[in-house]
Amino acid sequence: MTTASDDIGALRRDLDDAHARIAALERELAEARPLGSLGRMTVSIAHDFRNVMAAIAGQNQLLLEGVPADSPTRRRAEAIRKATGWGERLARELLAAGRPQPPEPAVADLNAVVLGLVRTLQPLLGEDIEVRTELEPKVGAVALGPAALEQIAMNLILNARDAMPSGGRVTVCTALAAHANGAGPEAPALLRVEDTGIGMDEATRERAFDPYFTTKAAGKGTGLGLSTVHDVVTRHGGHVEVASTPGRGATFTVTLPRARAAAGPTVLVVEEEAGVRELIVEILELHGFRALPASDHGEAERLSRAYGGPLALVIAAADPGTDAARRLDLLRRARPETRVLYLSSRLEDARTSRPGGPTLAKPFTVDALVRKVQEVLSEATG
Ligand SMILES: Nc1ncnc2c1ncn2[C@@H]1O[C@H](COP(=O)(O)OP(=O)(O)OP(=O)(O)O)[C@@H](O)[C@H]1O
Ligand SMILES: [Mg+2]
Repeated sequence: MTTASDDIGALRRDLDDAHARIAALERELAEARPLGSLGRMTVSIAHDFRNVMAAIAGQNQLLLEGVPADSPTRRRAEAIRKATGWGERLARELLAAGRPQPPEPAVADLNAVVLGLVRTLQPLLGEDIEVRTELEPKVGAVALGPAALEQIAMNLILNARDAMPSGGRVTVCTALAAHANGAGPEAPALLRVEDTGIGMDEATRERAFDPYFTTKAAGKGTGLGLSTVHDVVTRHGGHVEVASTPGRGATFTVTLPRARAAAGPTVLVVEEEAGVRELIVEILELHGFRALPASDHGEAERLSRAYGGPLALVIAAADPGTDAARRLDLLRRARPETRVLYLSSRLEDARTSRPGGPTLAKPFTVDALVRKVQEVLSEATG
């Protein structure tokens, strides 16, 4: 008999193999093309940075294994896992940028990235800070990659936290910019981060985006957060501005060009077991999907509403006839275009599809999951 941790172990080995394959390809690519000195430096920093991330992720994995599923420490350890994932992605983008050939034009689903980030950052913000999202369903894809988008939003949200030492509220909104012809397809997207913190006087506001400008204690801030945001945003053809009054909070508004191409399909993952859920998310993201993880159907409904954008697929453990299955049906009724892939831990379901739709039996391999997802989505389009 296999246990859940055997299954997770097997999946993790698959995933490690996939990571190893990507690393090998990156090495081949790096060797195939000579780099300039700046490129070499970028690649070597990214390389060391990724090693540090791997060390943190490895230690954290050991921590996670010793912590019961319902403990608050577990949520924190999972947030660390997610954050090291961003670090690795950033390193990967740096590795790509170090190459002489320009990278593929990047796209990301703005709302999906914002939701994922907010949910992961929440435990790091403390209980005195309320986080709200107000997302415009029509914003769709923007013309920069998820790592760059996460970098921008994370810096703005962490600055908001630092500006509210005794608590407050941070609101993250997306919207379409008002355009001469209304908010049409050409209108850029807006990402706004608003806080109820200490605010800025004019002198601070004028220098806020300067590299190394900080009002934080030595060792607390480097003053590079906003200058990085500024660089990333302008490199992608956007701009960023701030409005603030001392004592009355600050509002940062980032204007981003929208992408012509659609971002990778977004998948809602409803799975109670944190280890399995995080693995599915990791596998999906490795294959160009955007994943929204939920631990139960209530959370899935809230996420689906907040996100608003198109959901290509829901992957859910929902046995027929249960409350979970009924809630899933309700969610689908609101989204007729969304496909469902059922997760099942029962062997008999592996051979037959359920009346509700295609089924994947646990435990599954990385390849089986990817194949099934692609199969279900290709049936949807053709
Ligand atoms: N939301 C905000 N409310 C009030 N002041 C802010 C806010 N965001 C930034 N600032 C001011 O701008 C300065 C520069 O911000 P920036 O993010 O570049 O650096 P930092 O936050 O000080 O350091 P780091 O980002 O490296 O931790 C901050 O020190 C602070 O004075
Ligand atoms: Mg900062």
